[in-house]
Amino acid sequence: MARELTQREILTELEPVAATALNRHLSMVKEWHPHDYVPWDAGRNFAMLGGTDWEPGQSTLSEVAKAALVTNLLTEDNLPSYHREIAENFSQDGAWGTWVGRWTAEENRHSVVLRDYLVVTRGVDPVALENTRMTHMTNGFTPGVARLLDGAAGFLYSVAYVSFQELATRVSHRNTAKVCDDPIADRMLQRVALDENLHMIFYRTLCAAALDLVPDQAMTAIDLIVENFRMPGAGMPDFRRNGVLMAKHGVYDLRQHYEDVLEPVIRQWNIFGRTDFGPRGEQARERLGAFLENMELVQIPRFEEHRDRALARERARA
Ligand SMILES: [Fe+2]
Ligand SMILES: [Fe+2]
Repeated sequence: MARELTQREILTELEPVAATALNRHLSMVKEWHPHDYVPWDAGRNFAMLGGTDWEPGQSTLSEVAKAALVTNLLTEDNLPSYHREIAENFSQDGAWGTWVGRWTAEENRHSVVLRDYLVVTRGVDPVALENTRMTHMTNGFTPGVARLLDGAAGFLYSVAYVSFQELATRVSHRNTAKVCDDPIADRMLQRVALDENLHMIFYRTLCAAALDLVPDQAMTAIDLIVENFRMPGAGMPDFRRNGVLMAKHGVYDLRQHYEDVLEPVIRQWNIFGRTDFGPRGEQARERLGAFLENMELVQIPRFEEHRDRALARERARA
């Protein structure tokens, strides 16, 4: 059996793959500008400049749409945490360094456009939003598992995490578009979701190459990341309330996590069809299989029953 590779060795081996994926990414991205997506006509001054301060009645967005937009925005706002995660676990050399910079710059657009839209349309209390952003960014975010395990393979945990996380944010933005009931928000969120999809493809490609290079090490990382997956917004103020609202109304729930995020990526990596695992990889694959089966057959039906009862109670009260 081949010996385990160190993080540095893995990064060096995969640098040519990163270069190809980066070039593919750059050939696919279309330039876009946040200001084009914001209805500036709908804006007016706040009290400090002689206008009117924010009041809840000023927005036509539903509570669900507001909760989803704010959660997505605060997630994007926490970019320094994600940058740190990627910058510390990827290399600064060659294509790795270029990717980290490029990706960070692209991500920053997402919080710019979401904040401008929400403040201009008065979809959010700007003071509450600012207070929450301060708390959330000060706390920061880490996917957690990477730090608990062998430090030599931090890259594998990071790249597995972001493969799922980029797709999760894509799904969340896309489904938020549906609940906003506003063609302007729809266009903006579809635009952001497109970016997230290209980011996912880069990370998914690199993680696939890692599976080929170090199958057992990569499989162990993937299993741990899936079993301990935390949404990037986890831990932000009001995440429980907003997360529940989003799950209840189809923006991001357990079935979507399973069917739209975990399954397609795992299928793309051919996890359950591979024949190159050693004993360690086999064990991790079995654990992952059991975990997914439990999610599909137990957790999802349980969540949906609970949700349907809660929605029925709400309808009865209304
Ligand atoms: Fe983003
Ligand atoms: Fe992204």
